[in-house]
Amino acid sequence: MNRYDGVKVLLTGAASGIGRATVNRLVAEGAAVCAVDISEAGLAETAAGATGPGKVVTRVVDVTDEPAVIETVAEAAATLGGIDVLVNVAGVHKTTPIETLAVADLIMLFNVNLVGTALFCREALKHLPDGTGVIINTSSLSATQGNPYMTAYSASKGAVLSFSLSLAAELSARRIRVVPISPGSVDTALTRNADMFPEGIDLGYYGRLFAPFGIAEPEQIASVIAFAGSSDAAYMTGVNLRVDGGSHQ
Ligand SMILES: NC(=O)c1ccc[n+]([C@@H]2O[C@H](COP(=O)([O-])OP(=O)(O)OC[C@H]3O[C@@H](n4cnc5c(N)ncnc54)[C@H](O)[C@@H]3O)[C@@H](O)[C@H]2O)c1
Repeated sequence: MNRYDGVKVLLTGAASGIGRATVNRLVAEGAAVCAVDISEAGLAETAAGATGPGKVVTRVVDVTDEPAVIETVAEAAATLGGIDVLVNVAGVHKTTPIETLAVADLIMLFNVNLVGTALFCREALKHLPDGTGVIINTSSLSATQGNPYMTAYSASKGAVLSFSLSLAAELSARRIRVVPISPGSVDTALTRNADMFPEGIDLGYYGRLFAPFGIAEPEQIASVIAFAGSSDAAYMTGVNLRVDGGSHQ
């Protein structure tokens, strides 16, 4: 069964990690995917690796560049012949002790994680069909659970979560579903970045946090995104879909 036969998907953050794994999964299930990211090289790797009955086209864009986002979404709709599902995965992370929190970092995190997501939602809504359209936005475990040195990132992901819940309420009149997804710790470039853990911090905290099911593979998040975006989840909207291996226990 190819749940995504004939389904047109616009997906950000497609050049790496969870976004790439989701492109792979959706193409394998039959979707036509417009994969966007700021990394041209990463997008080329994603496109080369995706196999299945579906297909993938790529567009390079910075999700914070409003005119470029407007153009990209319009082009994606023209190329695919519409947009049925929007998946916002693009995101950045930076850990900073509160004593050295820089305003520039706070703004950068909110710009990419929240503003980029909001812009893609606004523009894609010009194309998403009433009754069946779906938006999946990537929040985080950090939105609802305190993590040391992640105040700014957590706040930006909390913003993505609350933005998505209100958007779901607003769009229920159009029967367009909005599902924020909140992964726990996933093994990607984002978590392998040395900046993730500043020197001298209590790594034991993170060990305890991720203990129940350990760290996820990106495919374990992609499969849940694929479910949430499909008609199998037709009655699901406005719910924070936590995929965190038991981190909230
Ligand atoms: N890895 C985790 O543990 C984890 C946990 C919870 C939530 N998340 C969220 O999942 C999403 C994907 O993260 P990942 O772990 O796959 O990280 P990743 O670094 O592997 O992928 C992030 C992608 O976003 C792209 N990107 C960053 N800034 C961009 C911009 N301005 N414009 C366009 N593209 C941009 C990057 O180029 C990259 O391809 C992020 O939103 C992240 O915050 C990750």
